[in-house]
Amino acid sequence: MSMWWFITTLAITAFICNSPVYAYDNNPLQDICVAVNDSQAAVFVNGKICKDPKFATANDFFASGLNVSGIVVPAIGGAAKFVDVDNMPGLNTLGISTGRVDLDPQRIVPFHIHPRATELITVLEGIFYVGFLLPDPANFFKSRLISKILYPGDVFVNPIGLIHFQYNVGKKKAVYLAAFNSQKPELIIIPNSIFASNPPIMDDVLSQGFQLSKTQIAELRRKFS
Ligand SMILES: *[C@@H]1O[C@H](CO)[C@@H](O)[C@H](O)[C@H]1NC(C)=O
Ligand SMILES: *[C@@H]1O[C@H](CO)[C@@H](O)[C@H](O)[C@H]1NC(C)=O
Repeated sequence: MSMWWFITTLAITAFICNSPVYAYDNNPLQDICVAVNDSQAAVFVNGKICKDPKFATANDFFASGLNVSGIVVPAIGGAAKFVDVDNMPGLNTLGISTGRVDLDPQRIVPFHIHPRATELITVLEGIFYVGFLLPDPANFFKSRLISKILYPGDVFVNPIGLIHFQYNVGKKKAVYLAAFNSQKPELIIIPNSIFASNPPIMDDVLSQGFQLSKTQIAELRRKFS
């Protein structure tokens, strides 16, 4: 009987863990957990510590400014602005955040991943060529490109952890809104992460890893640093 109970519990747990509604961020254990902005904190929890709910205010759950473009990021040829737990403390533990990206014509958001979030993008202006790389389970040395041309009102999803990019293929500025199922999705820009690491990765490793000469590696380091 207890063995049967154990197997049933295991099966239910496996089902819940694989169900599509399972979020990567932890589920909240209370109604709200407004982050305390304590930059001097010596200890951290998984997320941010929360203030007493009776001191929460409407502004903890509010942000503005996505009506205009964000900070110019030369590496992406455009501007980006994110509303995450760092600037909207009410998002703490809720597993959601948003952002806005404006791209100049013929510029890209380079190959990147969000290790903690799936990203849903909605085009507001312009035309994008977007895509992500789906690993080929039959061959780790291959992938399949899932890509699309997007127009205003179109929605595209980049699954959690997969390498993706956005390219403004139009002749005018293009803008999308991004929604993430994490309070802090994180951003890893692949080329910079590899070629501009500190300390740098040994030349032999980069040279073998990309089948390039050390001269070519030195050039890539210069470009991405
Ligand atoms: C954007 O929104 C802010 C805050 O609501 C407002 O002060 C500003 O005038 C708006 N800017 C534009 C260009 O609409
Ligand atoms: C949190 O504190 C840091 C450092 O004191 C400050 O730069 C930042 O703007 C603060 N964030 C919020 C949401 O108040």
